[in-house]
Amino acid sequence: MAGVTPMSDAEAVGTERRSREDVPTTSEAIDSPLLEVKRLRKEFGGVTAVDGASFRVASGSLTGLIGPNGAGKSTTFNCITGIHEPTAGTVRFDGQDVTGLPPYTLAERGLVRTFQIARELSEMTVLENVMLAPPGQVGESAIRAVLPGLREAVERDEAELVEDAWETLSFFEIDHLAHENAGNLSGGQRKLLEMARVLMTDPEMVLLDEPLAGVNPTLEEKLLDRIDELRREGLTFLLVEHDMDVIMEHCEHIIVMHQGQVLAEGDAETIQRDERVLEAYLGGDV
Ligand SMILES: Nc1ncnc2c1ncn2[C@@H]1O[C@H](COP(=O)(O)OP(=O)(O)O)[C@@H](O)[C@H]1O
Ligand SMILES: [Mg+2]
Repeated sequence: MAGVTPMSDAEAVGTERRSREDVPTTSEAIDSPLLEVKRLRKEFGGVTAVDGASFRVASGSLTGLIGPNGAGKSTTFNCITGIHEPTAGTVRFDGQDVTGLPPYTLAERGLVRTFQIARELSEMTVLENVMLAPPGQVGESAIRAVLPGLREAVERDEAELVEDAWETLSFFEIDHLAHENAGNLSGGQRKLLEMARVLMTDPEMVLLDEPLAGVNPTLEEKLLDRIDELRREGLTFLLVEHDMDVIMEHCEHIIVMHQGQVLAEGDAETIQRDERVLEAYLGGDV
């Protein structure tokens, strides 16, 4: 085929795989990460919330991000998803530098995070909430940012949008609440709605900051079940969660942050027997 030349010997040497002993147990071992955070730093005045954190998230994985209170997990999330501009460091998504891009641009590229349902949205119905979601979410100013896009979407193909909305609601088993105001939902139902809204943006990767906080065991099971099913369809998740049992059971890769840095990473077994992790938690205010 024209334009395709076989690899020269020199190039082949460059791509040679490392020997077994050299393969680290950290996410450096992840060959083609969907998300790559490098030497990320975020300062707020005199406070260094994130202090040079580097990690990778494999495509299609459910990766956990844990650490004691104040470790810098939420700030890391906010830097990745464009809520905060990092002081230094880079964020690469799907092979491209996306450092500092705003949330709606990231959403268009397939990188989203869940947001708590804003006050304006709690006065709308569950169905309206998911129909408003598609052009990308931008937190508090969600409605303002989203309405022009919504009008376009509606003009383009309202029937399709409505159909997608119902499908998404039924996937999360909240379709019976479609005409209920979002503000009337229980804590757990709200979390399902937050996930449903994010899914309507057709993401590649979803970041979840404590999605199970205040969720009863039945709905927790449902939410985790949906996450597992979405992963089987190829979605990638990065999850911050306090419940260690959930993290250990569901995440194949776990990153532990402490004082703004990555302290350890690996699978559940590796993390559980890492003494530095234990110390960080015992010393921390958990
Ligand atoms: N907007 C902010 N202004 C000042 N300090 C902040 C801000 N956000 C977070 N911090 C500080 O940064 C550190 C990390 O916080 P955070 O990222 O929320 O940790 P975690 O989510 O792991 O509990 C904490 O010391 C916190 O007080
Ligand atoms: Mg937090």
